[in-house]
Amino acid sequence: EKGNYRHFMQKEIFEQPVVVAQTLRSHLRRVEQTVALPQIDFDLASINRVTIVACGTSFYAGMVAKYWFEQFARLPVDIDVASEFRYRDPVLEPGGLALFISQSGETADTLAALRHCKAAGQTIAVVVNVPTSSMAREADLLLPTHAGPEIGVASTKAFTCQLAVLAALAAHLAVKRGRLTREEEAEIVEQLVETPACLNAALAHDEEIAGMAHLIAPARDVLYLGRGPDYPLALEGALKLKEISYIHAEGYASGEMKHGPIALIDEAVPVIVLAPSGPLFEKTVSNMQEVRARGGKVVLISDAEGIAEAGEGCLATIEMPKVHPLIAPLVYAVPVQLLAYHVAVAKGTDVDQPRNLAKSVTVE
Ligand code: M6R
Repeated sequence: EKGNYRHFMQKEIFEQPVVVAQTLRSHLRRVEQTVALPQIDFDLASINRVTIVACGTSFYAGMVAKYWFEQFARLPVDIDVASEFRYRDPVLEPGGLALFISQSGETADTLAALRHCKAAGQTIAVVVNVPTSSMAREADLLLPTHAGPEIGVASTKAFTCQLAVLAALAAHLAVKRGRLTREEEAEIVEQLVETPACLNAALAHDEEIAGMAHLIAPARDVLYLGRGPDYPLALEGALKLKEISYIHAEGYASGEMKHGPIALIDEAVPVIVLAPSGPLFEKTVSNMQEVRARGGKVVLISDAEGIAEAGEGCLATIEMPKVHPLIAPLVYAVPVQLLAYHVAVAKGTDVDQPRNLAKSVTVE
């Protein structure tokens, strides 16, 4: 039931603080301030490599996780979309963890990749939203998201719940590998516990973002830029927009602009820049200024500090709360979801059932 909401997608966007909290509750021990994963009969400390496989939005969650696993756990990570992974004869050495991410747990290519990795002797971990799904049944380590049923074809709450589980897993792997002290683990748990409140703060910008829809709706092309863990968010923002508004959108790593895409920039191309303040901020802003110098119309999504520093002259700015870098991808997911949603509503498309798409892709 949609309740007071106009679309399932809108309802699901607004459910995120609650379902992310639910998901975190099952992967954290708040009192002890530790990460808690299900009991398993193998030692996660012995893992020497992670291979992540998924499709669409779930793949972008995996891309964010790659940054986390490498940064916190110092584990090498390989990641691919399932349709490519299956057919490229990947090298899978003993001691590897293969991690599959899926809302439905039934996506054909992801399931086939899982079976391939199982046959190759990898330990199988699955982040999945449907507990009765094929992937859930075939996992050695099942890490459920508790997003509840997701009806809108465009994935929203499943994505942020996947990120919540993956952040907990990254911290757990880091502890197991002796890369985090007790204090650092407690600090990460503390930050994760803050996430639902930060998601609420991001959702408070709904009306303001609705008011920006008319700036984007007439565009033929839209670009999204980000760096580090915000690069996958740029890809996710572009995917959300194209799925439901049918506007051509691309996400790029900010630093790639001058290697080609900047040729697309003119006054008619809105550029959405995701740039929380922090070590990567200056670099992203300098890419943003290059876009502006060529007439590009920038929407800057940052925190108060970032907007004070670089917001002047932008077409619009959206102010996110200042958050720990670990939870920034969860929080920055909200404005890109809302922007896509309101642009689609402005264009009058079928938000929950976009053309040519199915909720669960069970054929190759
Ligand atoms: O059920 P899954 O997470 O395996 O589905 C993967 C993709 O089909 C899915 O994320 C798709 O990209 C969504 N429509 C994105 O909004």
